[in-house]
Amino acid sequence: MFISFEGIDFCGKSTQVELLRDYLLEQKKIVHLIREPGGTEISEKIREILLDKKNNAMVMETELFLFSASRAQLVREVIRPYLQKGYYVISDRFHDSSTAYQGFGRGLSVDAIIKIHNLAIGETLPDITFFIDIPNEVAIERKLKKSHSDLDRIEVSDNTFYERVREGYLYLSKQEKRFRVIDGRQSIENINKQIIDEIKSLESNK
Ligand code: ADP
Ligand code: TYD
Repeated sequence: MFISFEGIDFCGKSTQVELLRDYLLEQKKIVHLIREPGGTEISEKIREILLDKKNNAMVMETELFLFSASRAQLVREVIRPYLQKGYYVISDRFHDSSTAYQGFGRGLSVDAIIKIHNLAIGETLPDITFFIDIPNEVAIERKLKKSHSDLDRIEVSDNTFYERVREGYLYLSKQEKRFRVIDGRQSIENINKQIIDEIKSLESNK
């Protein structure tokens, strides 16, 4: 099973990815975790370019192609082989991040982005996508707890950018049957329970 996690920065994805991994391991499943951008030697190099604050001259088209290039490599080098071996592959962000951030956030054509997804990932789509939804104010509160120097090139974007990204995710959740919207303001434990219930229900319908 291929599972992706999405949401604006600080929504709690990484926390939930780890809890889901622990649950699946307890169930004696084999699990492989990945995060985007990154996950292969080449993709990690692309990640450095993308998140480096010194690269503030980067135009949005370059940004889109770099995220897609990193993903194309990850799909072929890691995701497909692991899925073939029967692993649960859990990804902290996948292609929906590009639709939300580069499409809705930056304003690039969503139709063009979908065509690029077709080339970069082909048929390798998540079976289920958890969109952990938090209002921007909650993200800002959590972000304030982090020192500014720890924020990456994208995390320093202004609040209206994040409003648009969130709109993008809400749009995708209406379009895509694999999306499950989870209220990220709940406790970490409740969110984890909801995610496990969704996984169980998907497996029982397989
Ligand atoms: P992301 O990977 O989406 O950026 P993290 O999992 O790293 O998010 O969480 C961002 C911050 O919010 C961390 O400090 C984390 O401890 C905290 N956090 C995560 N989930 C919750 C939650 N449900 N309620 C309150 N704080 C949370
Ligand atoms: P990361 O440190 O992995 O953030 P997070 O822990 O919030 O996932 O940085 C990834 C950043 O890149 C994050 O701000 C979202 C952004 N991003 C895009 O803009 N487009 C994409 O396609 C992906 C995968 C990430």
